[in-house]
Amino acid sequence: MRRVEYDHFGGPEVLHVSEVPVPTAGPGQVLVEVLSAGVGGGETAIRAGKLRRVMRLRFPQGTGNEFAGRVAAVGAGVRYRVGDLVWGLMPHGTFGAIAEQVVVPQDRLAALPAGLDPATAGAMPVSGTTAITALEEKARLRPGERLLVRGATGGVGSIAVQLGRYLGAHVTAMAGQRNLEWVRELGADAALDYRTTRPGDLEPFDVIVDLVGTDLPAYRRRLTRGGRMVALAIAPDAVARSVAATVFGRVLRRPILSFSNNPSAHTIARLTELVEAGAVRPVLDRAFPMEEIADVHRLLEAGGVRGKYVIAP
Ligand SMILES: NC(=O)c1ccc[n+]([C@@H]2O[C@H](COP(=O)([O-])OP(=O)(O)OC[C@H]3O[C@@H](n4cnc5c(N)ncnc54)[C@H](OP(=O)(O)O)[C@@H]3O)[C@@H](O)[C@H]2O)c1
Repeated sequence: MRRVEYDHFGGPEVLHVSEVPVPTAGPGQVLVEVLSAGVGGGETAIRAGKLRRVMRLRFPQGTGNEFAGRVAAVGAGVRYRVGDLVWGLMPHGTFGAIAEQVVVPQDRLAALPAGLDPATAGAMPVSGTTAITALEEKARLRPGERLLVRGATGGVGSIAVQLGRYLGAHVTAMAGQRNLEWVRELGADAALDYRTTRPGDLEPFDVIVDLVGTDLPAYRRRLTRGGRMVALAIAPDAVARSVAATVFGRVLRRPILSFSNNPSAHTIARLTELVEAGAVRPVLDRAFPMEEIADVHRLLEAGGVRGKYVIAP
């Protein structure tokens, strides 16, 4: 089967399509034929080696952590059947979903929401479960609260805006100038240009979800009493400062909450439920064939994505 890999850190050109053996599903595991896989915004920095001090990777290294597809084979003790439509994530901290087939433990999967197109749904499992964990499980966002999403038009942000709105919050999105109108259409009550808005310009927020990783202390100061900040990104050009702010922030009175997305089967199923309830939907910018993965990384690096780019193998 074909899978996107790279053999050393570098620019987008290090990405290539390799022929590799089809993996087999052991006990409790599922072989999934991938129909779409999302390209994570953070993966360009990983590929460039900017996070090598905080993430251990082996070469050849795969890319992509989320997918939608059809069950092709099952190991012993698996509750899914061949032919079922599913979506899910690679095991925590591993990549390789941009491939024709993947093997994952069954608890990394949920049934694909009814009516969702598997050829594009791979845009959502990572973004959706990260947004659920941030807003429902960590920040415990309540109706009527003021939510700021920083990095609102990318993969995670575009779902956090929708989920924040569904949970009854007043949502302010920080985004690039060309996406301000678009993010309002997505569900934001207010949209601010991140290039011209300084943290000090902002009214207080009850919850801040940060997907950028810079200036964390300055944004934290914009929290109300009892406010919560969830910081999810490591700024690729300021890794040490970003990690230090997050770690130090944990012990503050209004702590900076952070996590590395590792959703339970329950959280993945919650995403299916939220999509079926009409609360959130995948946000697809464009789909590409596997051979164009380097161009997709170039597009991500250029900025301006609306939701996710997906690869449809
Ligand atoms: N901790 C976790 O579990 C977890 C899970 C998923 C993702 N992440 C991390 O979260 C980050 C976002 O991921 P993603 O997939 O959503 O990436 P993405 O799709 O590339 O989105 C990033 C967004 O941030 C915007 N942005 C860039 N600089 C900004 C600034 N200074 N202020 C406000 N917005 C800014 C970009 O807008 P423009 O393109 O218009 O510049 C883009 O919309 C990445 O660092 C990723 O590694 C963490």
